[in-house]
Formats: sequence, C-alpha cells, structure tokens
Amino acid sequence: IKYHTASFITSAPDISKLPADAGIEVAFAGRSNAGKSSALNALTDQKLARTSKTPGRTQLINTFELDEEKRLIDLPGYGFAKVPIEMKKKWQRSLGEYLQKRKSLKGLVVLMDIRHPLKDLDMDLIHWAVDSEIPILALLTKADKLKQGKRKAEVLQVRKALADLDADITVHAFSSLKGIGLNELAWKLDDWYLGP
Ligand code: GTP
Ligand code: MG
Repeated sequence: IKYHTASFITSAPDISKLPADAGIEVAFAGRSNAGKSSALNALTDQKLARTSKTPGRTQLINTFELDEEKRLIDLPGYGFAKVPIEMKKKWQRSLGEYLQKRKSLKGLVVLMDIRHPLKDLDMDLIHWAVDSEIPILALLTKADKLKQGKRKAEVLQVRKALADLDADITVHAFSSLKGIGLNELAWKLDDWYLGP
C-alpha cells in the first residue's frame, strides 16, 4: 500500500463524530508526546498530523484516508499531567468505548517512548484492545535516543512482558527521526488492511 497518498478527512471532537464505521481503520494511540503524529507523518511522508514539543497537542481525533475503504486515526494522547481529571476520565471512557465498539478497527498501533514503556495507562489500553481481540503493534519510539545494545534489550524486555497476555502483539523499536522500524510498521499495516 502506498501510504504517501494519505489525505486528511476530518477532526472529530469525540468517537460519535467519527466517519461511518465501514471499511478498515487502524488507530495510533499512546501517551502524550509519545510520537504518534510524528510516526504518522513518517509513514505517509507528509506533514499530515501536527507534531509539537508541548504534550497534549492533539486534542481531536484526526482522521486520514488512504482510499475510500482504508483510514488512519491519530488518537489524542493520554497521561498528560496538566489535563483536568474530569477530562482524563472522559477520554479514558471514550477510548475504551472506541476499542470495544468500533467494528472497522482492525489494528491498534500503541506508541511508547522506548525509555519508559508499559506505564499503567499503556497497559489499560493494551488490555482493552486484547479483550476486544484487536491486534496490536507496539512501537518503542524515539529509539534513536538509545544505543543499539540498550535498544535491543528494551525491545526484548517489552516483548517478554507482553508475551504473558498471549495475544496478537508485535513489538518493534521505532524512530521517525531515523526511519527505524518504518518498514515493519508499513508491513503490519499492509497485513491489517489487505488481510492474510
Ligand atoms: P500528542 O499529540 O501531544 O499526544 O503527541 P504525539 O504522540 O503526537 O507526539 P509528537 O509526534 O507530536 O512528538 C512529540 C515530540 O517528540 C516532538 O518534539 C517530536 O519532535 C519528538 N519526537 C517524535 N518522534 C521522535 C523520534 O523518533 N526521535 C526523537 N528523537 N524525537 C521524536
Ligand atoms: Mg499528536
């Protein structure tokens, strides 16, 4: 699939305002500042999604399409300390609802900073996806920040921790800056969009 043909469709304030639940959708989720928007931009080789040094930048659910049947979703980051607790709870609820109810959702890319992966909220998200039988690609982002040896060790450790869940979860190191893991991301999305 040619991901550089992706184009922006809409920004939805909540799950209920997303495009019709048809075709195939893949969502990018992770903590604020994990590198979701950067990963989408690297994948599509475009400045589609706004990136920022300020965490919590993406507040809306940004939707992109590859063609009529295939969408990419940039979900708002979670875990941003400055967001009021009520907003956090509301977002947690709608994220859970999205993972449970969205029929077109065929894969979830979970992005976590390689220097501090598998936080409580990441695990909540992963558990919801596993419960809904949604395959997961865990990308350990900003891998350029670690030396090769440490990078590999982190990937192995996260793989080991997630193996216990006995679910469809793949783990790779990733860097939008250096292009690490970009092919693995595209291949996994091809699988989800085109089927086996
Ligand atoms: P929210 O939309 O706020 O949830 O954040 P996000 O997950 O979309 O993160 P975003 O892509 O905006 O990146 C956050 C910060 O991390 C920016 O300053 C990026 O430049 C930086 N960043 C993203 N990817 C990488 C990477 O691969 N390597 C390095 N070194 N920095 C990165
Ligand atoms: Mg973003």
